[in-house]
Amino acid sequence: MKDKSIFVCENCGNEYLRWQGKCDACGGWNTLKEITTTVTPSRGGSLFSVKPLKLAEIKDKDFKRFASKIEEWDRVLGGGIVKGSIILLGGDPGIGKSTLLMQLADCFTKTLYISGEESLPQLKLRAKRLDTNTKTDFLAETNLESILQAIETNQPEITIIDSIQALYDPTFPSTAGSIVQVRECALRLQNLCKQKGLSVILVGHVTKEGSVAGPRTLEHLVDALLYLEGEKFIGTRILRAVKNRFGTTDEVGIFQMSQNGLKEVKNPSELFLEKHKEAISGSIVTVTLQGNRPLLLEIQALSNPTLFGLPRRVSSGFDFNRLQLILAVLQKRAGINLSGQDVYINVVGGLHIEEPAIDLPVALAVVSAFKNKPIAQRTVVFGEIGLSGEVRDVSLKDKRIKEAKRLGFQNIIETRNIVEALKKIDLA
Ligand code: TYD
Ligand code: MG
Repeated sequence: MKDKSIFVCENCGNEYLRWQGKCDACGGWNTLKEITTTVTPSRGGSLFSVKPLKLAEIKDKDFKRFASKIEEWDRVLGGGIVKGSIILLGGDPGIGKSTLLMQLADCFTKTLYISGEESLPQLKLRAKRLDTNTKTDFLAETNLESILQAIETNQPEITIIDSIQALYDPTFPSTAGSIVQVRECALRLQNLCKQKGLSVILVGHVTKEGSVAGPRTLEHLVDALLYLEGEKFIGTRILRAVKNRFGTTDEVGIFQMSQNGLKEVKNPSELFLEKHKEAISGSIVTVTLQGNRPLLLEIQALSNPTLFGLPRRVSSGFDFNRLQLILAVLQKRAGINLSGQDVYINVVGGLHIEEPAIDLPVALAVVSAFKNKPIAQRTVVFGEIGLSGEVRDVSLKDKRIKEAKRLGFQNIIETRNIVEALKKIDLA
């Protein structure tokens, strides 16, 4: 091993062999800091000692998994935390990362929960609220050396670190949370965890730019990257895997924030459906996919004559440009003139839906609102709209229909054309 000196930009993490005044990558002035890293020579020493293997020659390895009793968490990871893996959980501040991990901590035989952000009494207060964590070991610490030592002596099954931005490695001069610190701390934790076969969950804050802990610093390093998402003032939380080396990224976990922690939602469709006594205009039910799970959702539209100037189009939970496109198709292909109307769209429940399958329900909700004619209850619609007014098929159609029928929605509108769809629900 030998020491090597490099210069790293504190803003963007770009590395240079010699000092310069301006960082080429981010344009920041005077942001380069000298750091000394230890370079390990390649394993084996000789170039001739490495031999590639055929698949048949590679021994099978069963990855041991730690399943928790929180099914929604296990589902997202593909059956639980793999032994020796490193997981990064990202999300906006206050979304419930610490809450989720504290509930999770209780599910394993030996967990070490290290908090760099909260004091021990604060942790105790939360644990009491959640009525959990009698078995877990807690540590409030930010110094990486002490943390590594605590992990080595305790040998926990699962180590939770809340959060990686709060840690600092005393051998580097920069402050906690800087790119250099985050990267070095994560690398040293990763080394320890791979050597000893320990599993670590790191919490990472989402930056203003939307990535976890700076520009892609950690994403490449970890085995799984999960995001906890949701609207702060609406209770629903969705756990999504963006990267998963030991499973798919198709699954999502759905939770509801309550007075005492996150509760699993086993039947998400029932959560998002508003129960109206009678049919109201501008409201329609659709089935979207969250990962591989079908989810029934209500879409609401409202339209009012424009009083002054350009008509307003407002959309919440649905892409604004897509709404403009749908209104244009309605006008051109179905003769519904909305040029003098303000149009508002809302996806009930605070979800943001990106899949094109909700084009058709959005269009029908707008027409229903515009004509002030309700769509019959127990009707479900989905489909992607094309520019010529055609309705295209969506993925996993059978799964969607099955879920709709399970919840008593018998009237499923299947159509190839937007005009035909309007006829089928008496809005033509
Ligand atoms: P927290 O887990 O601290 O968020 P994060 O670690 O992602 O920053 O949770 C934050 C919010 O959750 C906080 O505003 C209060 C709320 N909360 C509940 O509604 N119920 C609960 O049982 C707990 C523990 C928190
Ligand atoms: Mg927290």
